[in-house]
Amino acid sequence: MEVKLLPLPLPLPLLLLLLLLHFPFSFSTIPLGSVIYPSGSNNQNWQSPNSTFSVSFVPSSSPDSFLAAVSFAGNVPIWSAGTVDSRGSLRLLPSGSLRLTNGSGATVWDSRTDRLGVTSGSIKDSGELVLLNNRSVPVWSSFDNPTDTIVQSQNFTIGKVLRSGPYSFQLERSGNLTLRWNNNTVYWNHGLNSSFSSNLSSPSLGLQTNGVVSIFDSSLRGGVDTVYSGDYGDSDTFRFLKLDDDGNLKIYSSASGNSGPVTDHWSAVDQCLVYGYCGNFGICSYNDTDPICLCPSLNFDFVDVDDKRKGCKRKLELNDCSGSTTMLELAHTRLFTYENDPNSESFFAGSSPCRANCLSSSACLASVSMSDGSGNCWQKRPGSFFTGYQRPSVPSTSYVKVCGPVVPNTLLIAKKDDGNNSKVHLWIVAVAVIGGLLGLIAVEVGLWWCCCRKNPRFGTLSSHYTLLEYASGAPVQFTYKELQRCTKSFKEKLGAGGFGTVYKGVLTNRTVVAVKQLEGIEQGEKQFRMEVATISSTHHLNLVRLIGFCSQGRHRLLVYEFMRNGSLDNFLFAVDSGKFLTWEYRFNIALGTAKGITYLHEECRDCIVHCDIKPENILVDDNYAAKVSDFGLAKLLNPKDNRYNMSSVRGTRGYLAPEWLANLPITSKSDVYSYGMVLLEIVSGKRNFDVSEKTNHKKFSIWAYEEFEKGNTEAILDTRLGEDQTVDMEQVRRMVKTSFWCIQEQPLQRPTMGKVVQMLEGITEIKKPPCPKTISEVSFSGNSMSTRSMLVASGATRSSSSSATRSFQTMGITSSGPASTRISEGSLLGS
Ligand SMILES: *[C@@H]1O[C@H](CO)[C@@H](O)[C@H](O)[C@H]1NC(C)=O
Ligand SMILES: *[C@@H]1O[C@H](CO)[C@@H](O)[C@H](O)[C@H]1NC(C)=O
Ligand SMILES: *[C@@H]1O[C@H](CO)[C@@H](O)[C@H](O)[C@H]1NC(C)=O
Ligand SMILES: *[C@@H]1O[C@H](CO)[C@@H](O)[C@H](O)[C@H]1NC(C)=O
Ligand SMILES: *[C@@H]1O[C@H](CO)[C@@H](O)[C@H](O)[C@H]1NC(C)=O
Ligand SMILES: *[C@@H]1O[C@H](CO)[C@@H](O)[C@H](O)[C@H]1NC(C)=O
Ligand SMILES: *[C@@H]1O[C@H](CO)[C@@H](O)[C@H](O)[C@H]1NC(C)=O
Ligand SMILES: *[C@@H]1O[C@H](CO)[C@@H](O)[C@H](O)[C@H]1NC(C)=O
Ligand SMILES: *[C@@H]1O[C@H](CO)[C@@H](O)[C@H](O)[C@H]1NC(C)=O
Repeated sequence: MEVKLLPLPLPLPLLLLLLLLHFPFSFSTIPLGSVIYPSGSNNQNWQSPNSTFSVSFVPSSSPDSFLAAVSFAGNVPIWSAGTVDSRGSLRLLPSGSLRLTNGSGATVWDSRTDRLGVTSGSIKDSGELVLLNNRSVPVWSSFDNPTDTIVQSQNFTIGKVLRSGPYSFQLERSGNLTLRWNNNTVYWNHGLNSSFSSNLSSPSLGLQTNGVVSIFDSSLRGGVDTVYSGDYGDSDTFRFLKLDDDGNLKIYSSASGNSGPVTDHWSAVDQCLVYGYCGNFGICSYNDTDPICLCPSLNFDFVDVDDKRKGCKRKLELNDCSGSTTMLELAHTRLFTYENDPNSESFFAGSSPCRANCLSSSACLASVSMSDGSGNCWQKRPGSFFTGYQRPSVPSTSYVKVCGPVVPNTLLIAKKDDGNNSKVHLWIVAVAVIGGLLGLIAVEVGLWWCCCRKNPRFGTLSSHYTLLEYASGAPVQFTYKELQRCTKSFKEKLGAGGFGTVYKGVLTNRTVVAVKQLEGIEQGEKQFRMEVATISSTHHLNLVRLIGFCSQGRHRLLVYEFMRNGSLDNFLFAVDSGKFLTWEYRFNIALGTAKGITYLHEECRDCIVHCDIKPENILVDDNYAAKVSDFGLAKLLNPKDNRYNMSSVRGTRGYLAPEWLANLPITSKSDVYSYGMVLLEIVSGKRNFDVSEKTNHKKFSIWAYEEFEKGNTEAILDTRLGEDQTVDMEQVRRMVKTSFWCIQEQPLQRPTMGKVVQMLEGITEIKKPPCPKTISEVSFSGNSMSTRSMLVASGATRSSSSSATRSFQTMGITSSGPASTRISEGSLLGS
């Protein structure tokens, strides 16, 4: 009984006081006079009510210095006042100013709010640090004075700037987002379509909880999606947009468990395209995985070997050079030049005058000869900042004036196989070709001798193809001459796609073939052969068969079986072509296509993501069966970098999965999306992106879902099928439902192709698909815009000029199915 009376020994006020002393600043309100210190027993912080954010000192990268910052989970700064030594302090002065001082008492940063009647500070659960007056109205906010980060619920408007070193990020009045170097050189310009920008009143940028960065304005209903984080859709995650000190704008995410690692899921620019990333005289390149900084040649030294981003310096200055200057040639290298740059100018000149002019002119430091067809030669004046990047696909050669003989940098040279090494290369090819030919002749003579001696039909050269084909099933190698002959010098054009033009040809054994002349293939002979082997080892009833190939010099051609009926789009959309598919054929083509793609994704040895499924790439054979073509080519374009020629798909956006536009990794589920669109088109005979009176001015696919939801599936069906007795409405409904499952925005929600086959065949029950949320037409990815910005920056006149991009070096997401390939935008040779 007595024990129960004991628990009230301390008066309540004393208890509170004790608590206060113990956790002096664990409340969100920061009274005037409060102070925090970086280290030692004084280490304190001001925490938000639920402790998600805190104001404290976090160790900075340099030793014995601390960043006064608002941090997420105590270690991820989202706003900072500055860096001080261990004896510094952050103090909310009685005058109302928040002030950061270093050990010597010098002010490093001040909020300058001492005349504004501040009565307290506060750190909110949103991460906003505010100074409030006596009516609790904020007079200063960290969200209005951002440093290098924007968090969710932070409103970034015109006039605000994120800064990191020489780099800055801004929202322009036009609604464009820009990244600048030294407040002027724009190296990234992510634009709104000008039809929008003319209407903007006060645009603002926000990072939404689902990971989408959008531009808001009263004139834009609901906001314009601009970029998607790699893990978008997952709203249980803390995200922030940060301008890193490497000059790249990135979206970071943290697992909601607070202490989870923070990783970036989107970056705006190919790292090597960040202006000045490698400093003055630095050349940015890639080892297999990371951007690296190199000096143009051994005539240069790193300014700081431990920090190669600081750039390079000459071993011998040009002024100290006793007359013997030479031009260092850097193949596939682009020194950044941009229009209106007072330190560079351009004119028309071939590569040797471009080089010679610079060598003889004292007002020229370096020159860039563009081989993109523009014929431009850029000259840079002495004293100007000089930075560049190298990549095998860059269509320009740069020349740098150096003192004395050129001492090449092997790290740079090593990558340009087709430059200085081309002679060796030619030799190897010649030996290989001759060896191969001798071998072929020997085999042929042997074969002929063994089995065909008595058969007079095999006496002619045409047996060459037949024999080899039957003997091994391997693709036949043709010479360029042979293909030229069989296509009558590429006379009859069948079509043109993203990878090149297709011509009709007749082999000497009378087989009619389709010869595809590939463009923009950068890889060497050996890799090309390996890819060809992969493609030709993929045999399936619903895949077009590769008969042979040619790889000679620059020429890369593929020879396919010819389909007289052409591609599916002729049947579906060309109303006046007289071609028409009955329902039975349509269903079989849909099923066949699905089986073909399933084989590519799941069943063959080297799994292939097609990347460009559309009616144009589905051929119809004599028996009206589907044959998928063009598979395996995306990988051919530049398999090493896994980059993809975006221009090849620009024309067919209606089929691109949203993650493609958002610049996320492309997986087999992206093919599923494209297939879903094709499926809808097979049923309807309409392009999925068609907009018409009948569809209430909506995109056909959106309208179709609305009709489907109303139970009006008949409205979606191709009107030309009206009289077709074979139409099986059950099949129609299955196809329509399957299609809507395939075009779900979230890759994970889409079925695999194997599942699709089962759905079409009616083996599995198909649930009602949710509405496939479609992405605003004006959305685009950060990287594709960076391409355009570089074109602006470099002053290149042609849209085909190269600009390669790269991103997502640290993305680890959406790996669905076995065939998960990462392909981002690549570059194109403009020759
Ligand atoms: C404090 O800052 C001042 C100027 O801001 C600087 O000159 C001084 O060296 C700094 N002192 C310490 C100890 O960091
Ligand atoms: C803290 O509050 C914010 C804002 O209300 C909320 O988003 C967050 O989930 C909360 N965190 C915790 C750990 O409760
Ligand atoms: C708030 O401060 C103003 C002057 O800064 C003063 O006139 C006013 O009375 C104060 N209000 C309260 C509620 O203290
Ligand atoms: C952002 O701030 C601007 C101007 O202060 C305002 O017009 C706009 O509504 C705000 N946007 C959001 C999403 O809060
Ligand atoms: C860019 O502008 C800001 C603000 O005007 C200034 O503080 C900074 O020094 C400038 N940077 C350069 C490199 O000129
Ligand atoms: C905005 O960006 C787009 C695309 O990069 C560009 O075409 C346009 O000129 C830019 N507008 C302004 C005002 O910079
Ligand atoms: C801008 O958008 C309008 C309407 O959405 C479209 O008609 C136009 O083609 C677009 N312009 C560009 C340059 O994309
Ligand atoms: C911009 O404003 C004009 C005139 O008010 C209007 O016709 C046009 O549709 C608007 N553009 C957009 C993209 O809203
Ligand atoms: C590429 O460079 C990075 C950073 O310098 C290094 O960590 C990585 O090991 C290099 N990779 C290769 C394949 O050399």
